[in-house]
Amino acid sequence: MNYQSILEEIESEIQPLFNEGKVASYIPALANVNPNQFSMSIQMFDGTSFGIGEVNKKFSIQSISKVFTFTLALNNYGKDLYKRVSHEPSGNPFNSLVQLEYENGIPRNPFINAGAIVTADSLVSIYKKNSFENILDFIKKVSNDETITYDEEIFNSELEHGFRNYALINMIKSFGNIHNNIDDVIKTYFKQCSIMMSPVQLAKSMLFLANHGENPLTNECIITESKAKRINSLMLTCGHYDASGDFAYKVGLPGKSGVGGGIVAIVPKKMAICVYSPRLNIQGNSLIGTKALELFTTKTGLSIF
Ligand code: DON
Repeated sequence: MNYQSILEEIESEIQPLFNEGKVASYIPALANVNPNQFSMSIQMFDGTSFGIGEVNKKFSIQSISKVFTFTLALNNYGKDLYKRVSHEPSGNPFNSLVQLEYENGIPRNPFINAGAIVTADSLVSIYKKNSFENILDFIKKVSNDETITYDEEIFNSELEHGFRNYALINMIKSFGNIHNNIDDVIKTYFKQCSIMMSPVQLAKSMLFLANHGENPLTNECIITESKAKRINSLMLTCGHYDASGDFAYKVGLPGKSGVGGGIVAIVPKKMAICVYSPRLNIQGNSLIGTKALELFTTKTGLSIF
């Protein structure tokens, strides 16, 4: 299959969408990007790669970071983690509060904000003041890349404007499902969201999930096969919040989005893909990124279904 020419076709077919969707602005520093960017990187198991656009330009990974923290927490706690964060789709927006009250502070899944905050808390219980450093080290390990950092301006912007997340963490704390100091946990969560990575780095970092938990480029075992299966299942059913069904229907791959405009997707036993385009649909997922991945699986037949 000629993946490079497929990427070129996709780039030309998504052009009419460049006047749709809006860049995230509820975190003001995220609004400082050119809305008309599009890049896509494919990383194969043998190290071959294909790309279109500025595939080495970094962007804010935001909720894609939740895949890394969930993996790290699952490695540490195993199935005990599910006592504190469940594994069902929420059917609600990523920052919704409503279910939390009647479900006693147990978030539906680790990819909505509430679930990622509980996951961050579980990591703070282990790594204490060095939680963010441990998360970053884990991301460097799975990406096999020492150069990954976070963006101080985006971190501070969310610290100043992340009112919904403060509401979420306080609500969860009231039910006893946050065990550490609220400030330490929310800072860890905001910092993980402000990590900057390029499409190439992100696609490489997801390869272990396409390969039963082992990075095919380094042969390093990151997580067990069974846990990799579960993370992929959750990406398929919950990775795009209240648009997860729509993403599964249109794209047919496990994927995870972030309000920075990135989406990662996994083709089991074959490749990992990252697409970046910061205009978002109303559910907060990259509008053009979703379309590009739909075109990709339609043209290649490489969905899991
Ligand atoms: O907590 C937030 O609202 C952001 N830091 C992350 C949300 C996000 O990326 C939702 N994804 N599409």
